[in-house]
Amino acid sequence: MTELGERSLDWAGDRIRMVDQTRLPDAYVVLEIDDVAGLVDAIGRLAVRGAPAIGVAGGFGVVLAAQEHGAGTEQFAAAVEAIRTARPTAVNLTRMVDRVAACAAEGPEALLAEALAVRDEEVAASLAMGRRGAALVEELVSEADAVTALTICNTGGLATVERGTALAVIRTIHERGRLALAIATETRPLLQGARLTAWELERMGAPYRVIVDAAGPALLSRGMADVVLVGADRIAANGDTANKIGTFALAVAARYASIPFVVVAPESTVDMDTPSGDAIQIEDRGADEVVNVRGTQITPEGSGALNPAFDVTPAELITAIVTDRRVIRLDRGETPATDTGG
Ligand code: MRU
Repeated sequence: MTELGERSLDWAGDRIRMVDQTRLPDAYVVLEIDDVAGLVDAIGRLAVRGAPAIGVAGGFGVVLAAQEHGAGTEQFAAAVEAIRTARPTAVNLTRMVDRVAACAAEGPEALLAEALAVRDEEVAASLAMGRRGAALVEELVSEADAVTALTICNTGGLATVERGTALAVIRTIHERGRLALAIATETRPLLQGARLTAWELERMGAPYRVIVDAAGPALLSRGMADVVLVGADRIAANGDTANKIGTFALAVAARYASIPFVVVAPESTVDMDTPSGDAIQIEDRGADEVVNVRGTQITPEGSGALNPAFDVTPAELITAIVTDRRVIRLDRGETPATDTGG
């Protein structure tokens, strides 16, 4: 990603530098964020988004909180709480904020070292998921000469700092010359698929098509993809998976069509403290994003709307979960609690 090299966000001495994801694909704008209020705003309006990316940003946010208020003060604790609750569904945010904040007593250098470690681990996890996921896809669709993969939302380098989760798998398959087509659902209301995934696929020179969300299940029912690859915002202990709204419909259709449905996410998204999907809080983002499309109102004045940002796909509809350390074969009765030796 031009100005930031391959990274969508990073630490820059005393501030966070990040691509403003709300401006893509029209403009590549780099934000410099040097205070907690700015970071909470950026997370809330999805300037930075995607579970691993907001986890890394949250970790750096703790360093900003210490710069502003001094580590360990009451204001520091309040600032940390504001960051960790900026969005509720992705477990990475609270987890990484808590992990970095736990180093507060050791001083500012320790905070920064931990935040950088979180970043480095996510970067390494993306590479590992790409390789592991591509190997699984080869196994699951071994009869196809080249793979057509359907995906939702954006799960690339923008969502993870580098490479991505599900999109890292698609990228690895493409780099191996085995990608026939990537199909990206546009992902209303905020169009992460049409704006961001298409932008990333274009830049990697991969063959792709964007579809309206409603076309996803229909294409699957006609056997027009070999595999569905999605990311995750929180994976419960039983394998139930929260991801972008629309994921559940794809999983139902994939099952109907006997097409493998694979979740790709780092271990940092697996939440063993959440027993099942019922316990996952689904973010409600309010009516504005539904009644407007990129600033233009599309409904009659006064229309209300429902806007759940995520849904939960039950474990029984998921073929496998690929993490940076293991493949969990839910289709063979495994769960995240299963010791797969990874
Ligand atoms: O609301 P968003 O854009 O943050 O939603 C993101 C997703 O649902 C992604 O699929 C998920 O975070 C995995 S990203 C690697």
